[in-house]
Amino acid sequence: MQKYVVDLNSCGPMVLDSIIKIKNEQDPTLTFRRSCREGICGSCAMNINGVNTLACICRIESDSSKECKIYPLPHMYVVKDLVPDLTNFYKQYKSIKPYLQRNEHPERENLQSIKDRRKLDGLYEWLSDSRDQASYERKEMLENSMSLYRCHTIMNCARTCPKGLNPGLAIAEIKKEMALH
Ligand code: FES
Repeated sequence: MQKYVVDLNSCGPMVLDSIIKIKNEQDPTLTFRRSCREGICGSCAMNINGVNTLACICRIESDSSKECKIYPLPHMYVVKDLVPDLTNFYKQYKSIKPYLQRNEHPERENLQSIKDRRKLDGLYEWLSDSRDQASYERKEMLENSMSLYRCHTIMNCARTCPKGLNPGLAIAEIKKEMALH
């Protein structure tokens, strides 16, 4: 752990601004990821004052007498400073085949009704997508104790999601669907 003092009068409002300033002015070895600076890409995910969040959309506490504690994301190996090793994340992400799968006419545009499109609002998975034709295989893949059923509905995901999504609810819906079919 290392402490830095930052002059907030000459710093942008977000935590990412402060660590960029530290890197530029005090410690060029300080290592972190960032890209879009607008809460889209997720590169700057870190644990700030005990909450997993995005440094680029996390405001610096206005009470300057308080310290800001920044750690790398928990439960991951650390490459250096605030950079976690994402190897396992990408391995898991690849395993869920995060793209539409179609047997019929994969070359064509896949139309969707307004009602079906609405079902995808706030979701980031393919089971509810009327254009995907691999739901049977996807559900088969979830029939084990190490994926879907590892979620205990603690809802930390929904509390911390910078985009206001609710993955816990989506997982609960999948569990319900699997139980009924
Ligand atoms: S830099 Fe892209 S989400 Fe923060």
